[in-house]
Amino acid sequence: MSDQEIIQFNNVTKVFPGVKALDKVSFKINKGEVHALLGENGAGKSTLLNILHGVYQGYEGKVLIKNDVIKFGNPHEAIQFGISKVHQEVSLIPELTVGQNITLNYEPKKKLLIDYDKMHEEANKILDKLHCNFRSKDLVKNLSIGEMQMISIAKALFHDAKVISLDEPTASLTSSETETLFRIIRELKANGITIIYVSHRLEEIFKIADKATVLRDGKFIRTFDVEDTTKDELIKSMVGRDVSSFAKRNKPRRFSEEVVLEINNLTLEPHFKDISFKLRKGEILGFAGLVGAKRTDVVRTIFGADHKDEGEIIVHGNNVDIKSPLDGLENGIGLIPENRKTQGFVKNLNNANNIGLACLENFKDLIFLDHEEKIENSKVFIDKINLKPKDPLYLTRELSGGNQQKVVLAKWLSTNVDIFIFDEPTKGVDVGAKQEIYKLLEDLVAQGKSIIMVSSELPEVIGMSDRIVVMKEGRLTKILDYKEFSEEKIMHYAMEGTDVEDKEV
Ligand SMILES: Nc1ncnc2c1ncn2[C@@H]1O[C@H](COP(=O)(O)OP(=O)(O)OP(=O)(O)O)[C@@H](O)[C@H]1O
Ligand SMILES: [Mg+2]
Repeated sequence: MSDQEIIQFNNVTKVFPGVKALDKVSFKINKGEVHALLGENGAGKSTLLNILHGVYQGYEGKVLIKNDVIKFGNPHEAIQFGISKVHQEVSLIPELTVGQNITLNYEPKKKLLIDYDKMHEEANKILDKLHCNFRSKDLVKNLSIGEMQMISIAKALFHDAKVISLDEPTASLTSSETETLFRIIRELKANGITIIYVSHRLEEIFKIADKATVLRDGKFIRTFDVEDTTKDELIKSMVGRDVSSFAKRNKPRRFSEEVVLEINNLTLEPHFKDISFKLRKGEILGFAGLVGAKRTDVVRTIFGADHKDEGEIIVHGNNVDIKSPLDGLENGIGLIPENRKTQGFVKNLNNANNIGLACLENFKDLIFLDHEEKIENSKVFIDKINLKPKDPLYLTRELSGGNQQKVVLAKWLSTNVDIFIFDEPTKGVDVGAKQEIYKLLEDLVAQGKSIIMVSSELPEVIGMSDRIVVMKEGRLTKILDYKEFSEEKIMHYAMEGTDVEDKEV
């Protein structure tokens, strides 16, 4: 191993019952580089990290750090060794202070007691290095997701990390939090720390990574110099075929003038006010806006997860009073939430059961499909969403993150609502699966269903919508027709909100 190398994976194989998650993976990572790990949902990225961090002990092959073969008994041993992980879902104790979380189980002691002064002093030093605005004595529960992630990084630095891995760190961050994170990553790198970075957002790879290793179906494909590659080359290597990285409609638009949902002056203070729009049969109505525009609050209220203060919800011409999700469902409205990992599936059920948990049954215990029927039903959808592995009896929680999301989508697709509200439908899913989800959306509208799609990815709203509702800070600022779509226009109405400068955009 040369001096530059810090980590070497040597023929690493990991088998779960029925799945080879990693198959003789060999590659190396150099000291002080930002090394991206890419691949479709289920490719084996998280599994490889779990091996590096001592979460899994049973595997074949070797992991070398510097020149030593290592085998950690648990994640704590890895942390002690300078190998830290910033979790996909931040796992901190909200009731404790920042300092307590950073030093947890390794608190500085005076005799046998925790030396709180020293704890906060040390923690604050690290927070300063990371340019954090909060202090060691603040309670974690009062911080944002982005700030919590900084605590995870601070924790790694407290343990003098040489290697820090981040698994989809930006999935829940605002764009300014993402920028801050990138700045910190660059600083860590400048200090000789090696970063392993997992993300489905390829633009990010080009912003911060030096190298990118692609895994496919558990196999090592290639390590790229990011400087010398392109987005299309990476995608092709991840998917094994040419896949468009763009969202676009492949079928003719077929919305009719029939209005299926009419919203008049919908208000829920202090979140949003005076929202009015119409959704037509067969239409995909995009919802664009910056973080904080309150798009999620609006759709939750239409579905009944929150209760409106004022305004009308008119479904197929009937003014309805929607007070709960059950009311929403009874009126044929389904909401597929953004936070699918926590709100979407039942932990101890297999795919067939989770998909069969058609929402009505979930809330009301109405329909009871028999077991075989559930499996047959799930197979149809497992095929449509290209689940990996295609096994109805697999426990959903044991799927990779992106595949769990596909199961939740399938569950909702198998219900018979006619107004689908998707909140960030492609968050956390890979490029190939994105295309499959776009196809599903098109199939739904082709069947005469109507869709509201909240999305923060501009190319996605532009590529998929028939019209776009733009919101800014709880107000609807513009409804655009597909012929007038452009990123500039949407950003204008999302940021400025006014119609005054209409002619300039
Ligand atoms: N605890 C587990 N038990 C059984 N199978 C598992 C377990 N964890 C992962 N797998 C399987 O191993 C394979 C690799 O999963 P992994 O989570 O490493 O994928 P990933 O590349 O991180 O995907 P994603 O981008 O969706 O997060 C998948 O087929 C998954 O179903
Ligand atoms: Mg993963």
